[in-house]
Amino acid sequence: RLLIIDFGSQVTQLIARRLRELSIYCEIHPYQKVTDAFLADFAPKAIIFSGGPDSVTREGSPRPPKSAFALGVPILGICYGQQVMMQELGGLVETGHGTAEFGRAFVTPTDERLPILDGWFDAGPEQVWMSHGDHVSRIAPGFAVYGTSPGAPFAITADVARNFYAVQFHPEVHHTPKGAKLYENFVRLAGFTGDWTMASYKDDAIAKIRAQVGDKRVICGLSGGVDSSVAAVLIHEAIGDQLTCVFVDHGLMRLNEADEVVSMFRDNYNIPLIHADEADLFIGALEGVSDPEVKRKTIGKLFIDVFQREANKIEGAEFLAQGTLYPDVIESVSFSGGPSVTIKSHHNVGGLPEKMGLKLVEPLRELFKDEVRALGRELGLPEKFIGRHPFPGPGLAIRCPGEITREKLDILRKADAVYIDQIRKHGLYDEIWQAFVAILPVKTVGVMGDGRTYDYACALRAVTSVDGMTADYYPFSHDFLGETATRIINEVKGINRVTYDITSKPPGTIEWE
Ligand code: XMP
Repeated sequence: RLLIIDFGSQVTQLIARRLRELSIYCEIHPYQKVTDAFLADFAPKAIIFSGGPDSVTREGSPRPPKSAFALGVPILGICYGQQVMMQELGGLVETGHGTAEFGRAFVTPTDERLPILDGWFDAGPEQVWMSHGDHVSRIAPGFAVYGTSPGAPFAITADVARNFYAVQFHPEVHHTPKGAKLYENFVRLAGFTGDWTMASYKDDAIAKIRAQVGDKRVICGLSGGVDSSVAAVLIHEAIGDQLTCVFVDHGLMRLNEADEVVSMFRDNYNIPLIHADEADLFIGALEGVSDPEVKRKTIGKLFIDVFQREANKIEGAEFLAQGTLYPDVIESVSFSGGPSVTIKSHHNVGGLPEKMGLKLVEPLRELFKDEVRALGRELGLPEKFIGRHPFPGPGLAIRCPGEITREKLDILRKADAVYIDQIRKHGLYDEIWQAFVAILPVKTVGVMGDGRTYDYACALRAVTSVDGMTADYYPFSHDFLGETATRIINEVKGINRVTYDITSKPPGTIEWE
């Protein structure tokens, strides 16, 4: 295993990404946690020190344990990681003197070449991405310089005898075009063969779940989304009927979605599933509510009540399974800053584990979203299910601005189904991050046949995005939009006008509420 010690850089996750792309298994751990004992137990085959926002010149700034340098394993320091390595090994780091660099820079090689730079400098200086205020002003004994930039005379340094490498720039970002190659060279040199696969991850995860849970019972809240579904199927493969799933059906799902979830888990996977059909409860509570925040809070609170009620019926349950992903875990490490690490709770059941005295099982904690999908495939989940667009916890309630009624929800479901059908038929589903219909709280006048209509208007939404944080509207062809509008108006009673939402995020959000 490769250990990445996180000193708080915003791009630490990208180091893990680059390594996973090379089929190398690695884990990111915050520096506060990496003690001598932790290191001895983890027994890394190589270590990477990430960048970080602090200054090593500040008293009390983050440090790796001294024992890291005595393990005899290759170490690569990035940015702050370079500086901390130099400082710990007897070099000097200083602030200022006009040597801060932010953004693109070019590194020029020295005469000596390093194996971790194979493939670099073939065509002269290499573009790299810098982001540093401090700089190394004297390298540690045993180190030599292999590349320099205008702001970082020690841009690339190494102690080849000890296999310590340290660079001032960030090879993990795309703006360092040969960065991936540097990581590849480093891990080869450390003896990794790149044999980490989803099949091996699955086997390990199953063994871990069995060891953690023993013969106790586990509850898993299913939302119909990819994460909780993959977690449930994986846990079921590990412990069989010691797992019970609870599906809180708030009646705000898309057309046929609740039935599909129930039948997939009960029939295809034979997983014990409690289907709490509480549409009346939720829709009743939402009557007369049009404020988006009140809607969200009402749904969130009821959800927890129902989940807790159902979970309490499962005798002897000691564990709660959650589909927490790696980005959730890492985000909290990098942004918490302080010595105590807060882990973001899954939005639907936040706070529940403590309230109910349950311990957590989080088998996806080490995976990125696309890896969860790969694991889902490994577990035999249908492709159509794995590739599904995200769907928000509050469901259709936040796609129905204004007051929610059963009538509006029904119309919305039908329109959404036609729209998604159109997108699939045109082969666009996988190009789009998320697509849905919102039913608007206005009626407009139309003419159909020879008669006057007075029906709802709806808005189509489709966006491209990488992570849901920013988004662009999808540039459908006019033909596609025209055909879809015609189909919706012809096929869905209650809608007589279709608009297309061309707002990006920011300033808009993806959902309407
Ligand atoms: P916004 O609308 O904030 O959404 O641009 C970004 C992404 O998050 C999803 N979303 C949610 N997901 N619970 C969820 O599980 C929620 O309350 C929620 N609100 C928004 C949204 O669908 C989009 O993918």
